[in-house]
Amino acid sequence: MKIYFVKDYEELSQKAFEIIESVILDKEYPVISLNTGGTPRQLFKNFVKAIQNDLDITRTTLLTLDEYVGPSDAVYSVQRYFKENLTDQIEDKFYHIDLIHGDANNQDEEIKRYQKILQKYPRDIQLLGLGTNGHIGANEPGTPFNSTMFVSKHTKETIESTKKEYKLSDEETPNEMFTLGFQEILQAKNILLLVSGRHKAKAVKTFLEDNISENCPVSYLRNYDNVTVIIDEDAASLLDLEK
Ligand code: F6R
Repeated sequence: MKIYFVKDYEELSQKAFEIIESVILDKEYPVISLNTGGTPRQLFKNFVKAIQNDLDITRTTLLTLDEYVGPSDAVYSVQRYFKENLTDQIEDKFYHIDLIHGDANNQDEEIKRYQKILQKYPRDIQLLGLGTNGHIGANEPGTPFNSTMFVSKHTKETIESTKKEYKLSDEETPNEMFTLGFQEILQAKNILLLVSGRHKAKAVKTFLEDNISENCPVSYLRNYDNVTVIIDEDAASLLDLEK
């Protein structure tokens, strides 16, 4: 695992963008799987700006890490996030995109469908964020490290952060999510984890300084060389190595 310590959110977003851009420039048919939430918002902005300024994504495939169970146009849905933060702003560009259908009637079939897509389009990059409880995707604490794509039940902590992120009432807040499991996450050629902000500092400390354990899902990534982590100063502020 490689770690870059950067100053702040701006620098983190720019560094992440540059890593994604270099894959798009280098590969003939790049496959980039993105996640959503607060952390990658600026990265999406940088990506849109570059595409509008002629970064060629005609041969790029875009995939996703996860999707809430619920209507595809719900304010919190990953489909809507991609639409608002990316695809609506690059309408005249050609690219290929395949997202998870959170409204699928048959969830098992949807999982099989998406697993086939993951096989057809081997990912060059899998983007990840970090939950304050150590989750990656919706692999919450206690999820076995051999998990494959499944519908996860969110913990209370995750439900609270979704509620806050999308300014929802209790009734509106989703509590289940399709997510790639550890196994699919780690099949990507490169895994890029972004962590920003003081509210993540405790999770970062557990991730990097405690034992590898299912209680802290992200800790599993420490075993792998194809993982790059970008952490800003606020998120790294509780680390002993930073003192
Ligand atoms: C969402 C996802 C989640 C988030 C995590 C951190 O697609 O993958 O695991 O990355 O909950 O969310 P933010 O970035 O909002 O702090």
